[in-house]
Amino acid sequence: MLVVIKKDYEEVSREAAHIVAGAVRAKPTIVLGLATGSTPLGLYQELIALHRAGSLDFSLATSFNLDEYLGLSPSHPQSFHYFMDQQFFSQVNVPRERIHIPDGTLSGDYDSYCGGYEQSIKSAGGIDLQVLGIGRNGHVGFNEPTSSLASRTRLKALSRETIEDNRHFFASESEMPKCAITMGIGTILDSRRVLLLASGRSKAAAVAKAIEGPITSSVSASALQLHVDVTFIIDEEAAYSLTQRDYYRHVLEMTKIFTPERLT
Ligand code: GLP
Repeated sequence: MLVVIKKDYEEVSREAAHIVAGAVRAKPTIVLGLATGSTPLGLYQELIALHRAGSLDFSLATSFNLDEYLGLSPSHPQSFHYFMDQQFFSQVNVPRERIHIPDGTLSGDYDSYCGGYEQSIKSAGGIDLQVLGIGRNGHVGFNEPTSSLASRTRLKALSRETIEDNRHFFASESEMPKCAITMGIGTILDSRRVLLLASGRSKAAAVAKAIEGPITSSVSASALQLHVDVTFIIDEEAAYSLTQRDYYRHVLEMTKIFTPERLT
C-alpha cells in the first residue's frame, strides 16, 4: 500500500490526474473504474483539461462506474449517470458504447442484471485502474458496513448515515433512494490497481480505519489492505488521524530509489 499525503484537495486532484493520465497513455485501451461523489470532481477537471490541451486521448478506453441509485433514470439530475455525463463524459472522448454505468431503472431480476455487469467487466479484460472515494462510514462504492468482503455487483440497501449524507441533494428524504446497485468489494479487489482519494477532516476517521485499522466488513475500505497495488491519495486534513504519517513519507522517498513494487 502507498499512502500519499498532499497539502490540499487541489494537490490530491493533480496527483491523481497524473497517475490516471499516465496509465491511459501507457495503455490506451485501458479499462477504467470510475467513481462519483464530490471527491473525484477535481480529478475529472484535470483530466478534461489535459484532453482539451490535446495530451490525453480516451478514444480507445472503456469505463465501468461503481454504482447507481436504484429508482433514478439517467436523466434524473441526482443520478450518477447524469453526474458522470455532466462532469466528465460530455467533455472527453470515451466512446459512448464503451461507457458502463449500472442501470438504476431496473425493476426485478436484479441478480441476472448484476451478473451481466460482472460479465461485461470480465469480457472487457478486467478493470486496470479503479478510482474510489470513501464514505464517512468507510464505504467504497455503496458497500455499506457489513458488506461481504467477497461481494460482487448487487443490490444494496443504503445505511442511515449515507442517506443522511446525501439527502440534501434531494428535495426531501422521501425522494432519496434507499437502495443502490453497486460493484462489490470482491469486484473492486479484482482491479489491477486501485486509487482511493480522500479530502477533508470529515473523512479522517474513515481513512485511518481503512489504512491502519483491522480488516473488517464494518469498514469496507479496510479490505483494500488485501490488494497488492493500492494507493491512497489524501490531503493533510484527511490524514489527520493516521499515526504513521512519517513512515508513509519515508516510503514515498524510497520509491525514488526502489520501485514501488518492492516497497508496498
Ligand atoms: C457515495 C458514493 C461513493 C463516494 C461517497 C463519498 O456514497 N457511492 O462512491 O465515495 O459517496 O462521496 P464524496 O466524495 O462526495 O464525499
